[in-house]
Parts: sequence; C-alpha cells; structure tokens
Amino acid sequence: MSLFEKIYQDFPMLQTKMNDKRLVYLDSAATTLKPKSVSEAITKYYENTTCNVHRSIHSLSEKTTIAYEKTRDTIHHALNSKHREEIIFTKGTTESLNLLARSLGDFVLKKDDEILLTELEHHSNIVPWQLCAERTGAKIKVLPIDDNGDLDLSKLDVLLSEKTKIFSFSGVSNTLGTINPVKEILSIIKNKSSAYTILDAAQMISQRDIDVQDLDVDFLVFSGHKYYGPTGVGILYGKKDLLEMIPPFHGGGDMIDKVTFEKTTYNDLPFKFEAGTPSIASVIGLNHAFEYVKSLGKQNIQEYTSSLFKDLKSKLSEIEGIKILGNPKKQAPIISFVFDKVSNQDLATLISMDGVAIRTGHHCTQPLMNVLGVSSTARIALSFYNNQEDINILVNSLKKAKEMLS
Ligand code: ALA
Repeated sequence: MSLFEKIYQDFPMLQTKMNDKRLVYLDSAATTLKPKSVSEAITKYYENTTCNVHRSIHSLSEKTTIAYEKTRDTIHHALNSKHREEIIFTKGTTESLNLLARSLGDFVLKKDDEILLTELEHHSNIVPWQLCAERTGAKIKVLPIDDNGDLDLSKLDVLLSEKTKIFSFSGVSNTLGTINPVKEILSIIKNKSSAYTILDAAQMISQRDIDVQDLDVDFLVFSGHKYYGPTGVGILYGKKDLLEMIPPFHGGGDMIDKVTFEKTTYNDLPFKFEAGTPSIASVIGLNHAFEYVKSLGKQNIQEYTSSLFKDLKSKLSEIEGIKILGNPKKQAPIISFVFDKVSNQDLATLISMDGVAIRTGHHCTQPLMNVLGVSSTARIALSFYNNQEDINILVNSLKKAKEMLS
C-alpha cells in the first residue's frame, strides 16, 4: 500500500462525496480532517470509559485521568516545554487568547501602555486585546506588512518603546500563508522591549516543529482541530513563573485549593486555569492526532506539501485574470486570490458542485482585507492528504467556473 493509499484509508472523510463527487478538501486552514484513530478514541471514551477526570478515585476515573493527562505529556514533549504543568487545556486558540487578554492583560497593563499586534492577525488576536484596552486604558499599535505580505520588521524600531507591554503575533498567516521569522522577531522584541510575548501558533503548529524553550516565547496558543484533532480543545503554553504570577481566568471546580464564602485559594498549575469539567474526549482524541503526525514526520509533511503547493501556485498563476494576494518570502501551503469581476462566493459555490471545498470570505482577518484593498478572497489550504489529482480537479473547476461567471 502506498503512503497516500494508507492516508486515504486512515481519513474516512477522504472517502466521502460532496455533490456526488469525490471530496477534494482544500480548506485545512479552517479545520483539518481527522484520522480514524482520533474519532475511535473519542467513541471509546463515550462508549467504554466515560467518567470525569481528577475527581473520583474509582478505577475507571483513574484510567481516564491517565489517558487525559497523557495528552499533556505528549504536548509537553512536542513543544519541549520545561515543565509539564506549563501546558493548559482550553477550548481553542480563541479561548487561550481571551484568557491571556484577561489574566495577563488586565494584570499588567495600565493606562497608555501599549499592546503591539500585526496586520496579519486573526480577529481572535485582535478583539480580545481591544476589549482589554477598553478595560485598562492601554493602546493598540500595529506592525504593518509590506507589499509581499511579509511583516515589515524595520518598523519595529519605531513601534517598540518602554510602553510596549504585550506583543502578540501569529507565526503563520491564515489568509496569506506568510511564515513569519518567529525566532528573529522574538529576539528583536526581547532585546528592544520588556514586552510579554505571545505566539499564536494556530496555523504554525501543523507547519513547523515548535520548541518553546529555544524560541524563548512567554506564551503560545493553538487549537487541536487545526492539528488533525477534535474541535473544542486547545492549548495555552506559558512559562511557569508567569502562569503562577497571573490570576485565574474562569472560576469553578478543579481550579481551587480551598473555598470559603470569604476567600478562595487556587489550585496549582495547570489546574488553576482549568475550571470545570473539561472536554475529556477531545483531549484524549488530541493525543492520537499528535501520534498520527509524529508517525508521518512533520519534516516529511512539510516537504510533501511544499512541493504540491509549488505546483498549485504555478498552475493558479497561469489562470487568466487571477490576482494572487501576497508573495511572502516563506509561505505555508495557504494561498488567497481573487478574480476580477467574479464573486468569490459564486466561485466557491460553483466549484463545490465538482466536489471542491475551499473557503471564501474575510477569513476572520477584516483589518488585513482593508490593507489588501479587498473585502474577501478565495483561499486554498493544502495538507498532506491532498494530492496531484486534487490540484488538477481544482484548477479545471476554477477555470470552468470563471468562464461561466465572467
Ligand atoms: N481561523 C479559521 C480560518 O482561517 C477558521 O479559516
């Protein structure tokens, strides 16, 4: 069996149809497909090992708690965090960023302090900071991109000052695919400011190995569902001393040490940030996603998708009237484009008749759309389960749809 045949067997969604055509799934930046091992682990939890974690001492709970905590170990090793309790389970990237805006932002920011973001950010790395700025009186500054869609690092000199207290940025743009020079950026920030650094790795996690100690980043966030895992589970990594310094986000069960009506003391890390019954099945499922990616090798995945992407880019650029947005120095297999006088919405609807799934819209990056001078784009995002045939079907379908619509 070839590797692609194995992957085809491992991902039931690849065997499904859309509009009676083989599904050509090119929307992996929105969410990735899941290997069978992930859904089987979830089913197993609900059918055979349902119980709560960290609470009861019966054998079932012990077994399930071990399975749940195994995911923390896996992620601790995958990110090379110094301590396993630096890995916090959240609902996803959005909740992790909201947690940081509340627990870190409200704690450290004072009036006229500055939060530095970039023009590439997803709404989830903008809106929580705006809410935080409203609460604290802090101001938001924005690092711009150049014409290619790369961050203009020369502007950091002007933007960074002793007022910059938080710098939050994405490693990979979900809209343009820009792969930012994360280590270089973090070292500039560290040298020129005392800002706390936050890396939104929602798109980066599937593209690059991440070593949080090597990056020396203060906080890092991502979602399980963009890493072949279930929805409803995400990660917040934070340096232990910082997680200990900031107050909890949600209050409730499991995050406490002692509760009286007068005062509550909090549990140790990581539980201080994990109030309430977590998404147990999703956390257990996520471990299988990490194992699946590990079995393929991230480097192999990157080489494979890069070569497929190169071919996609060259075939797209040959389509008459297409305008590809951005041309970053390093690009994940994510690309945005528009056609003159053709609605992206209509285009996506037509090609979905050929079984092709892409995303259109503002991709939760309206400020970036303003910078690019468009209100929406069509976006293709590849993964290791795509192949040459997918590219050919897409390109033919796009050409056909464009003819019909223009
Ligand atoms: N953030 C996801 C995307 O880029 C939903 O499509």
